[in-house]
Amino acid sequence: MHLEAVILALLTCTPTAYAAPKPTQPYSTWMASSFLSKKPVINRHYVSNVLGEGIQKAATLHKNATLLSYASNAISSLVSTNGTLIGWNPTYYSLDDLRVGNNLLFFWDSQGRKDEKLKTAATALRKQLDRYPRTPTGGFWHRDPAYKNQMWLDGIYMASPFYATYTSYFEPANTTAWNDIVLQFDLIEEHTRNSTSNLLYHGYDEAKKAVWANPVTGASPHVWDRAVGWYFMALVEVLQVYPKENPGYARLKGYLTTLADGVKKAQDVSGGWWLVMDEPYPGMKGNYIESSATAMFTYAYLKGVRTGLLDAKYRDTASKAYDLMIEKFVKVETNGTLSWEGTVEVGSLNGDASYEYYIGVGLSENDGKGAGPFMFAATEYEMWKTS
Ligand SMILES: *[C@@H]1O[C@H](CO)[C@@H](O)[C@H](O)[C@H]1NC(C)=O
Ligand SMILES: *[C@@H]1O[C@H](CO)[C@@H](O)[C@H](O)[C@H]1NC(C)=O
Ligand SMILES: *[C@@H]1O[C@H](CO)[C@@H](O)[C@H](O)[C@H]1NC(C)=O
Ligand SMILES: *[C@@H]1O[C@H](CO)[C@@H](O)[C@H](O)[C@H]1NC(C)=O
Ligand SMILES: *[C@@H]1O[C@H](CO)[C@@H](O)[C@H](O)[C@H]1NC(C)=O
Repeated sequence: MHLEAVILALLTCTPTAYAAPKPTQPYSTWMASSFLSKKPVINRHYVSNVLGEGIQKAATLHKNATLLSYASNAISSLVSTNGTLIGWNPTYYSLDDLRVGNNLLFFWDSQGRKDEKLKTAATALRKQLDRYPRTPTGGFWHRDPAYKNQMWLDGIYMASPFYATYTSYFEPANTTAWNDIVLQFDLIEEHTRNSTSNLLYHGYDEAKKAVWANPVTGASPHVWDRAVGWYFMALVEVLQVYPKENPGYARLKGYLTTLADGVKKAQDVSGGWWLVMDEPYPGMKGNYIESSATAMFTYAYLKGVRTGLLDAKYRDTASKAYDLMIEKFVKVETNGTLSWEGTVEVGSLNGDASYEYYIGVGLSENDGKGAGPFMFAATEYEMWKTS
């Protein structure tokens, strides 16, 4: 071989992409066990229950009875023996508080559908939706009274997968409920989707009274990554149980496939996604690659492909994101536990919803809003790699 050829061969062999070291145990259960060792707060709040679902998913895939009973006991501890969710106020209306319903239904179903107290608690949450305040066109308010007439992408995730799963279990022939579920998506799509980028703004105010409301659509001005992440996951989860014969199914599928395309186009070369995703903000000073949405998108792509909703090409998108998470957001501590980095604490429409607002919020370590979805994503990734 000529010297030039040798040099060329050496150069082209040099790995340019980061190669993740082979873990000694699956990342999903490793992260779950790490959280267990931190004794996380267990309550009705959505963060606790997103984390709980991550632990449950990891435990289920890898048949870890310790982790699974932890997640199960956590849920059971929130419900008194008569089926009352402890401390729950049935006249306080906030979509965030419905998210726990998914955990209740999961354990009710997976443990043989006999634990009546879990069903009773889930039914109380479901019944609240029958009297829940709505916008003039029928959208659930994000919260009463703070976010009157507002719908946020986050709220779609907090309520719709629960509403749909509950309906599939207990009222599968209730067309009114199925139509109501898709209506929530129709409304948020109509008001917040940018059909050029295929991304959605964080939320909208149907009364157009909020300081940030677009005078025509009512939409807020920016695409916040985690809101899109919640929404992407909500579409994938609802389509798992939504009846194919209802015309709403095709609409939901359309929302999912166009969103999958928009999110792929917005992926950074690193594999992750920017906190503020709308142009011209990616790459701008103060903006950064945020971990919770990166985890949510990875999960939504992988589960979407596995369940036949999305084209298999999106596994490449998810793989790049997964490698970045292992490299950048999963930290191996000296005591062998994992920590989760890079998740923005909050993003709200309670202020001016400006770019400066979003980038000014701090990061938090070991945030369940990121670590939970990381466990969702890792579980899907491990399922794919061993299938
Ligand atoms: C299951 O999870 C427990 C609790 O985190 C952990 O101590 C144990 O090592 C795990 N078992 C396996 C086989 O991974
Ligand atoms: C259910 O039990 C809780 C706690 O033990 C109690 O506060 C509540 O009043 C009970 N509710 C009903 C309807 O019996
Ligand atoms: C069907 O769903 C609607 C809308 O959520 C609800 O008002 C109604 O009570 C449900 N009907 C039955 C029979 O469960
Ligand atoms: C929609 O997105 C495109 C591409 O990023 C942008 O040029 C356009 O201004 C956006 N439209 C609205 C109404 O914000
Ligand atoms: C392991 O180390 C991390 C980081 O220092 C710490 O937060 C955590 O509490 C430790 N866990 C245990 C079980 O000692």
